[in-house]
Amino acid sequence: MNIVFLGLPGSGKGTQAYLLSNELNIPSISTGELLRNEIKNKSDIGLVIKRKMDIGELVDDEIVINILKANLIKDYCKNGFILDGFPRNLNQAIKLEKMLDEINIKIDKVINFIADEDVIIKRILGRYSCKNCNAIYNTFYNNTKIDGECDRCGSKEFDRRLDDNEKTIRNRIEVFNQSNFKIVEFYSKKNLIVSVDALKLVPLIFEEIKSSINNNLN
Ligand code: AP5
Repeated sequence: MNIVFLGLPGSGKGTQAYLLSNELNIPSISTGELLRNEIKNKSDIGLVIKRKMDIGELVDDEIVINILKANLIKDYCKNGFILDGFPRNLNQAIKLEKMLDEINIKIDKVINFIADEDVIIKRILGRYSCKNCNAIYNTFYNNTKIDGECDRCGSKEFDRRLDDNEKTIRNRIEVFNQSNFKIVEFYSKKNLIVSVDALKLVPLIFEEIKSSINNNLN
């Protein structure tokens, strides 16, 4: 299965991508995470993209497409993948289709996370993650079971993203609203879109996603 997750920042794409990746045993590829790694590693690309990411603007299509392509052709994607955060505009959707055509692959399903802006702002302001394994938590909704200790790897070090501040979140929402409808239209015409109510509890959303994917497998 080759799956795309679309949705507002904070709508829960990363949270569900982790669960689905374990369930289907396919990798989840977050372009945001790949780009943050470039910044963390202080690569040439990292230096170029940092300013844009800090203010919540999209990184240039060419840069993101090249980074994604380098991953999609790797062996670990050969049984399928979940794309979390790509495509972000119509050009990226078209380029993705072309890129996949070249390697004889098709997108099977596009999950569209429907959320409400006020809720997602609170979610993002409450988000923190494990510095070691990137597990995602939330001060308001989903804290670690043992205070200060990652449920998944036991690490005691946590981080908050630099772009998770109210000013940048509002810009990320605006950037999303400018282009997402065109992507939804693009995939709707191909009959690939399934919308999920991203305001529900995490396990309920996961069940909804799984059943839409099982429909495809049956
Ligand atoms: P990216 O890293 O993709 O961020 P995003 O799209 O803004 O999405 P988020 O990661 O903020 O949210 P999410 O939907 O994954 O929510 P999560 O599961 O963490 O992109 C960052 C930047 O990179 C962009 O601004 C851009 O600059 C650049 N970029 C990335 N891709 C690009 C591309 N293709 N082209 C150009 N530039 C690109 O959940 C959020 C919080 O809510 C967590 O704390 C979680 O615990 C909690 N939560 C999740 N689900 C629920 C629930 N159901 N109920 C209650 N709490 C919940």
